[in-house]
Amino acid sequence: MTQYAWWQTGVIYQIYPRSFMDGNNDGVGDLNGITQRLDYLQWLGVDAIWLSPIYPSPMADFGYDISNYTDIEPLFGNLEDFDRLLEQAHQRGMKCILDFVPCHSSDQHPWFREARSSQDNPKRDWYIWRDPAPDGGVPNNWLSNFGGTAWQYDEQTQQYYLHMFDARQPDLNWRNPEVRNAMLDAMRFWLERGVDGFRVDVIWMMVKDMQFRDNPLRLDWKPGDSNESIQIGVYTEDQPEVHEIIRGMRALVDGYAGDRVLIGEIYLEAEKLVTYYGPQLDEVHMPFNFQFITMESWSAETIRSCVDAYEAMLPTGAWPNWVLGNHDRPRIATRIGCDQIRIAQMLLLTLRGTPTCYYGDELGMENVVVPVEMINDPPGKKNPLFSRDPERTPMQWDASPNAGFSAAGIQPWLPIAQDYQQQNIEVEQQDPHSYLALVRALLSLRHDIPALSIGTYTAVLDVPEGCFAFLREHEEQRLLVVLNCSGPDLELTLPRLGQGHILLATSLDREGKVELSALQLPANEGYIIEL
Ligand code: NOJ
Repeated sequence: MTQYAWWQTGVIYQIYPRSFMDGNNDGVGDLNGITQRLDYLQWLGVDAIWLSPIYPSPMADFGYDISNYTDIEPLFGNLEDFDRLLEQAHQRGMKCILDFVPCHSSDQHPWFREARSSQDNPKRDWYIWRDPAPDGGVPNNWLSNFGGTAWQYDEQTQQYYLHMFDARQPDLNWRNPEVRNAMLDAMRFWLERGVDGFRVDVIWMMVKDMQFRDNPLRLDWKPGDSNESIQIGVYTEDQPEVHEIIRGMRALVDGYAGDRVLIGEIYLEAEKLVTYYGPQLDEVHMPFNFQFITMESWSAETIRSCVDAYEAMLPTGAWPNWVLGNHDRPRIATRIGCDQIRIAQMLLLTLRGTPTCYYGDELGMENVVVPVEMINDPPGKKNPLFSRDPERTPMQWDASPNAGFSAAGIQPWLPIAQDYQQQNIEVEQQDPHSYLALVRALLSLRHDIPALSIGTYTAVLDVPEGCFAFLREHEEQRLLVVLNCSGPDLELTLPRLGQGHILLATSLDREGKVELSALQLPANEGYIIEL
């Protein structure tokens, strides 16, 4: 019988540490805060937590600018706090995945300080330096994902360094073997401490073109489109050499007992995405599949076609995964609207493949309006339209001041949603029909029913427009999931499927026997039906 790893059968929950729980009342979340809330996560029923970066950082990009890869940022606590969190998570049967950020460090990292001290410093080549163009300008047309050129001039040594994100995040030179060794050592440090794996930041951008050729421009780009879409990253991303580096990371992770996992952050179209599993399934265990985040319209037809195309493209033996939200993109409730979020959650938690849930999405949290003068996020400071602060606001625990995130009287680092007194964990825990109750019920079914976690997936095509339906099957178990992704009520006519039994409805108020020859499916309603 096939054995499945925990990261295949389990559900991952992303914590943005600054915003989850403020354990020491300084307005910023921390490790002890997370530890305090592990019981909640266990109650919810997730299997693993992924922590966005917790390493020492000047916080130019809120932790994605690391100044020491093997310690804890004092704002978040210290190594003892981390060890306690890890131990407490493990005691509750939960795994813990760290965010690893190999593409760039902070400009305050001692490596970069050394590198920028002179052109012949031994660490110079750890970063990517170029002479100015003959006119003194930037070496080529590469653009930063946060807007503007990707090159920063260094007065002292009279060269430009590359930064694909903020200027305070210089890109590391992964063509240099010393960089590779230092980074693998950092991964070892955490693996030996017992972490269960890594989510690797912008893994597909670790290597750049050796000839520094200009990127082509996207001709259909218009103001308001994202910064990263101005150019096609032909020479700054998805370079062939990156795969060998990832295989090195994978070999390292696989050398540790206990199914440690390597997940890659990759925004690429599905055909390219799946190449990151590796020719022998020897690269990342899962390249994050962001199709539900990047898709332009939310409809049964687009969802079905993206699921079917992805399923068809997966290499043999590769394990799929799905994501509805993260700290970089508007929250799902804001993107698709509140009417459809129950459907979205049922979709995420019934599809084949590991689901990753973003903190607060289980409440139905929406983007919070952050006044321009309070914007923290670097791309948001350049253009408020691109601020990611709205999806990073503090978790809403209860109706007390500051939503129970920080004590009363403390100013949290980002504003709390105005409706937090109605929309919070405590209130939703008491309401058997709440959105949170649905998410918890879905998680519990996914745990109890192998067909949902490891069963096969088959789309059901003879359903009316606006409905996405699929079967999940394992041994004798056969489940039908039907999702009404549109406004009108629908009737499904599937006589060949006979009778069924509703295990869970998104409204949480329908169960029992149904005839599949004439199944009424109200607007914005979904069912998991046992056949
Ligand atoms: C992707 C991360 O998710 C994002 O938050 C960060 O700004 C960039 N990588 C740069 O590290």
